[in-house]
Amino acid sequence: MPETAQRLVKSGRQVLVQAGAGAAAGFTDAAYTQAGAQIVADAAAAAQADILVRVQRPSPGEINGLRAGSVLVALLQARTGPEVVQALAAQGVTAFAMELVPRIARAQKLDVLSSQASIAGYKAVLIAAGALGKYFPMLMTAAGTIAPSKVLVLGAGVAGLQAIATARRLGAVVEAYDVRAAVKDQVHSLGAKFIELPQVASAEGAGGYAREQSPEDQARQRELLKKHVGEADVVITTAAVPGRKAPLLVTEDMLDAMRPGSVIVDLAAETGGNVAATRQGEVVMRNGVAIHGPVNLPASMPYHASQLYSRNVMGLLELIIDKEGKLKLDFNDEVVAAMCVTHAGEVRMK
Ligand code: NAI
Repeated sequence: MPETAQRLVKSGRQVLVQAGAGAAAGFTDAAYTQAGAQIVADAAAAAQADILVRVQRPSPGEINGLRAGSVLVALLQARTGPEVVQALAAQGVTAFAMELVPRIARAQKLDVLSSQASIAGYKAVLIAAGALGKYFPMLMTAAGTIAPSKVLVLGAGVAGLQAIATARRLGAVVEAYDVRAAVKDQVHSLGAKFIELPQVASAEGAGGYAREQSPEDQARQRELLKKHVGEADVVITTAAVPGRKAPLLVTEDMLDAMRPGSVIVDLAAETGGNVAATRQGEVVMRNGVAIHGPVNLPASMPYHASQLYSRNVMGLLELIIDKEGKLKLDFNDEVVAAMCVTHAGEVRMK
């Protein structure tokens, strides 16, 4: 973002920007130049910097072009790409994986998982509203009253809570469910109903995340949620368990209970799907129910996805650059320690 480039320039740093890097998000090269940055011809030229910031992880060829001793910051997907981490260590690069941000209060500014999940939750509702052949809000018209649509949100983490808030703003009647009972108050505060399933054990795991449920609890949960799925016009699923394939929440049997014309948006499509019929990147029609499996939704809202990512990266740079502009790596800082995956030729990721 030109905004963050300007902040870096004002604090005395030199900023190089790959030509055209911001174009798809609406940021022209001229805007960066105006912010005090310097446009360079290509990614290879930008990679000559001491600190290289990217969105996605570099290809093997690009890694070969990185300077030993330089710093790389990106969404490395380090846990699913150990070979990338190995290659970065071998190249002598100090690499930071933005997705490994610890979910603690002090690191909220750096939290790219939250900033992008929130966009996904918002966009999921817009996709559903666009695809549904109904109004979301209740309307009193001259031709009679229109009943509001019913939206069911399964998984009320960051994406799910934003989906609830967005569906409420559009006037839908919203209910939500999560295996972590702790989210009940948050769901209520957004004006939605929390579905309580006392027969299913709460599955709160470490660090505020969910843990995997027992097969019995999974079966009970599906049986009890079937009625809610059947009554919904829109189902948004966002359930995830760290390090695991997405849990299956909506089975074929539950899909059979849905009315034709209903819409599902499965935000877990990239990690296996919460819905039996989901196909990644596609819209599957099943007995008149449209099942959307969108991928990389934040990229469909590039202005704010970039703005928030840029600010998240600034949060990290503030932790690793001192006032004189020198790199300072304090591995006693739990945020630095958690996000730095390679340093001095070694893989540091646990
Ligand atoms: P996530 O993307 O890992 O999972 C999404 C949601 O799916 C979670 O709420 C989870 O409980 C739920 N889920 C998992 N299995 C399910 C199932 N079988 N049925 C229904 N729901 C299921 O979670 P996300 O959004 O990344 O948030 C994780 C936690 O981190 C939350 O407690 C959140 O409040 C916390 N957090 C803390 C922050 C901080 O303090 N800096 C910042 C952001 C999040």
